[in-house]
Amino acid sequence: MENLDATLEEALGKVAACEDEAALKEVERAFVGKKGAVAAILATIPSLPPDERKDVGRGANELKQKILQAVAARAGELSSATLEAERKGEGFDPTLPPARLATGSLHPITLVTRELEDLFESMGYTVLDGPEVELDHYNFEALNIGRDHPARDSQDTFYCDEEGRLVLRTHTSPVQVRAMERLDPPFRVVAPGKVFRQETTDASHDHTFHQMEGMVVGKDISVGNLIGAMKTLLRGIFGKDLDVRLRPGHFPFVEPGFELDARCPFCSEGCSVCGRTTWIELLPCGLVHPNVLRAGGIDPEEWSGFAFGLGLSRLVMLRYGIDDVRHLLGGDLRFLEQF
Ligand code: DAH
Repeated sequence: MENLDATLEEALGKVAACEDEAALKEVERAFVGKKGAVAAILATIPSLPPDERKDVGRGANELKQKILQAVAARAGELSSATLEAERKGEGFDPTLPPARLATGSLHPITLVTRELEDLFESMGYTVLDGPEVELDHYNFEALNIGRDHPARDSQDTFYCDEEGRLVLRTHTSPVQVRAMERLDPPFRVVAPGKVFRQETTDASHDHTFHQMEGMVVGKDISVGNLIGAMKTLLRGIFGKDLDVRLRPGHFPFVEPGFELDARCPFCSEGCSVCGRTTWIELLPCGLVHPNVLRAGGIDPEEWSGFAFGLGLSRLVMLRYGIDDVRHLLGGDLRFLEQF
């Protein structure tokens, strides 16, 4: 029994002397741990005279509880002392660099889309959105691509229903029709977004990619207006004036239709980007076909327009020197973290 008192006194003294949690844990282990002082006392019970065993057993358990209480109380004191010290500025270094937060970054497609939206808005264009699951009517019919038009085959369409009424839009051109239905001419719109083609993927083809459609409807719109707008676009994208040239191109929704090339912004004698030709294929475009204006509820006798289909994915690849279109939507963080 004397041993119990002595142990308690020793334990309380050591607990009170602890200055941090680690030391406190150590003291706790030494007294109430599996091989601690209390356990040692309990181990002596069988060798005691029978009439002392009960008292010593109860005493040892009380001792254990008292030590545990003292440890808990001291732990509370220590943590509030730490807080107090921090509050006073002790042990707190405001110049330590913080743990690095994992932040995301904008996708290169988003970066270029936003930049182009700003550019077009500054030129008086409105940015429009359209559905990715589109009616056949908007994706084809109203764009002068009838049921049996061969252009349907070349579009590698994903159909969404048995009747072929719903498709994943194969281009952003259907937004032209939706724009004509919603807006009164004159107007200028661009519509960036995802498009889908059912095709085998390789470094320059993906089943999902991005385009930005443009349409301007007004009085007496000519090819000259189209070229002027595209030169302004190029200045915005590449930061300098670039010559352009038109080659004939066929698209059912424009007449005449063109492929617009721009002088390679990266070289003057030919490089790997322009395939040593000094020209880069920039975008298909043309004057809006009268049938398309009519399908959008606009009188082609009174109004005319131009349209263009900018390959956003291609432009992003050009801008950042990306050699495989599949990186864009592959979701690989090692790629995405570079932007
Ligand atoms: N929609 C066409 C495509 O994805 C691209 C296009 C061509 C858009 C000519 C236009 C245009 O607006 O005038 O193949």
